[in-house]
Amino acid sequence: MSGGASRRAALPFPSASRVWVAAGPLHRLAEDTAVHVELAGHPVCLARSRGAVHALLDECTHGQVALSDGDVEDGQVECWLHGSRFDLTTGIPTGPPATRPVAVYPVRIIGGGIEVAVPTGPAGAADG
Ligand code: FES
Repeated sequence: MSGGASRRAALPFPSASRVWVAAGPLHRLAEDTAVHVELAGHPVCLARSRGAVHALLDECTHGQVALSDGDVEDGQVECWLHGSRFDLTTGIPTGPPATRPVAVYPVRIIGGGIEVAVPTGPAGAADG
């Protein structure tokens, strides 16, 4: 087996079905931290590491707890419950026990503000 689906990045959703939503000022998200935000009904883990801002579905794929309560370091977030690590850019797990990627969302910085592209449908429908 060559790695299979669990090694592929989680595709967030088709570009035609997303909307950019303001997620707060960049200066309030410190390096190597994560916060939980609700964006258009979607639970999002907003994290900053290695100078970049990332947005992921705020739910560990192993036990459905909030990733935003975990530690952020070296471009990864570590789930607080069992220690799975997820790459902030791809959502791919880099450490067990999780095996499935978490959905990631496009992020842009406009005028010092963070914006995240989330699905236009209800939460869970296209979150990965
Ligand atoms: S709930 Fe996240 S690693 Fe188990």
